[in-house]
Amino acid sequence: MVVVKIAFILSVGLVGILAHKHQSKELDAKYNWWQHEVFYQIYPRSFQDSNGDGIGDLQGITSRLQYFKDTGITSVWLSPIYESPMVDFGYDISNYTNIQPEYGTLEDFDALIAKANELGVKVILDFVPNHSSNKHPWFIKSVAREPGYEDFYVWEDGILLENGTRVPPNNWLSVFSGSAWMWNDERQQYYLRQFTYGQPDLNYRNPAVIKAMDDVMLFWLNKGIAGFRIDAIIYIYEDAQLRDEPPSGTTDDPNNEAYLSHIYTRNQPEDYGLLQHWRQLLDNYTANHDGPLRIMMTEGYASVSQLMEYYEDSNGVQGPQFPFNFDFITELNANSTAADFVFYISRWLIYMPHGHVANWVMGNHDNPRVASRFGEKSVDAMNMLLMTLPGIGITYNGEELGMTDYRDISWSDTVDQPACEAGIDNYKTISRDPERTPMQWSSDVNAGFSSADRTWLPVNPNYKELNLRNQQQARRSHYKIYQSLLKLRQLPVLKNGSFVPEVVNRRVFAFKRELKNEHTLLTIVNVSNRTELVDIADFIEQPNRLSVLVAGVDSQHRVGDRLKAETIELAPNEGLVIQLNKRK
Ligand code: GLC
Repeated sequence: MVVVKIAFILSVGLVGILAHKHQSKELDAKYNWWQHEVFYQIYPRSFQDSNGDGIGDLQGITSRLQYFKDTGITSVWLSPIYESPMVDFGYDISNYTNIQPEYGTLEDFDALIAKANELGVKVILDFVPNHSSNKHPWFIKSVAREPGYEDFYVWEDGILLENGTRVPPNNWLSVFSGSAWMWNDERQQYYLRQFTYGQPDLNYRNPAVIKAMDDVMLFWLNKGIAGFRIDAIIYIYEDAQLRDEPPSGTTDDPNNEAYLSHIYTRNQPEDYGLLQHWRQLLDNYTANHDGPLRIMMTEGYASVSQLMEYYEDSNGVQGPQFPFNFDFITELNANSTAADFVFYISRWLIYMPHGHVANWVMGNHDNPRVASRFGEKSVDAMNMLLMTLPGIGITYNGEELGMTDYRDISWSDTVDQPACEAGIDNYKTISRDPERTPMQWSSDVNAGFSSADRTWLPVNPNYKELNLRNQQQARRSHYKIYQSLLKLRQLPVLKNGSFVPEVVNRRVFAFKRELKNEHTLLTIVNVSNRTELVDIADFIEQPNRLSVLVAGVDSQHRVGDRLKAETIELAPNEGLVIQLNKRK
């Protein structure tokens, strides 16, 4: 067996240890609280409906806050709750400082925060700076060229061809297909929209826009939130010279965003500066107010080196606390080998600049669910990875139950705008509705999500068996495993321990978490769909006694079982968390 030993003495661990020497517990709670958090993403429209209209709302979330406390979740992030025409279900905001009426009111939000505080749950809000809704008063004023708003958005004349036809100024494409430029008849100009027609890009070269967005941030900070998840950050700035993007050579479809190599519309150097500005705003806010460090996490699908620049630039200027790491979504899947897993996990840790914290996003509202990406049998193993890897874990609502995509949503029930635009023959491949169906609380009507006759998206029919209540009552369940993993995360070895990975064979990998004076923990995963018998004696350095700390729902192993390092049997897609007890 080839033993690959890459020991990552985690910078966060070191910082943590040093911090303990010099700082009080209170300071640690104030500044470092987020470094080992699990952030749970709530998709408000699908979480809990309190008034029977078939749509989730704030009072619904408040009524479920106890669930987080019971589960061991202490931080949640909410997809947008602001006023919106809902073309992109809240990612098209028409008023940044008010609540979407079908979700509730600002008073409901205050009540949510009050209850969350009482239960010790921190709330992070989604912040969508790249674009507003086309129904936002700023856009309406900009269309009318009202003084002060002329340049709030990215407007261009386009090119007038000899035959009198007007065409967009360049070849840029929308993420959701077709030209990124939409003609506006009233203003007689094109506006840039990188997403749907209803999401015009704000112009961050206009200082008034930056000021307006700073004010939005302060408004919500004053309401008591712990920070922001920043949406679509890589799209904020575009090339000022509007240069055409070169073809990527990956598809022949000129309307598909993959047709071009996005060197002028994504990850522009100015993006970093804006994030650094927001970081300062948040740090200043923390310095001048009680409460925890207000943090920022960013959403952007980009190369690993680009993402590392978000943590801090080459001069050491700090950006967000962490850019989302989407490798479990974009790089790994049911066909990945054990080496692929070790490679991508290690890659993030190797690239990450010193003193920063890793994070692992297992799922979100834009991508198929874990059970649908890796297979239903992999749910527990993936949660074991999420919880035992160094740093921060991010869970999308329902993943603690192993909810699956509802892939059979009919065309007439389809509401995701890009899917609607793709048409009846193509909607299924791109629709994000399947991963957004309502939360499955129980086997009651509509899975306990709503009392309405019709919910905004159909409930996945598998809710009768697959639901929280069943899993709370079962002796073993995905939920109970998730809960026990959250408890396990309190161990110092998972907070501060080093990380040593090992590719056992093509199908099995493992990693150790080690910390002086603590038991070493080992997570081992079989990523294949066949049973594996492995010998990891070399890797764990005998003599050790192995005992199972966490096993999956279908496992032949039980918590507390003793294992022999030479003969560990793993069922298809099985994961185990094992404690190594040193023999005296
Ligand atoms: C982000 C959101 C996605 C949305 C897009 C445009 O990627 O996660 O749901 O459609 O931004 O705001």
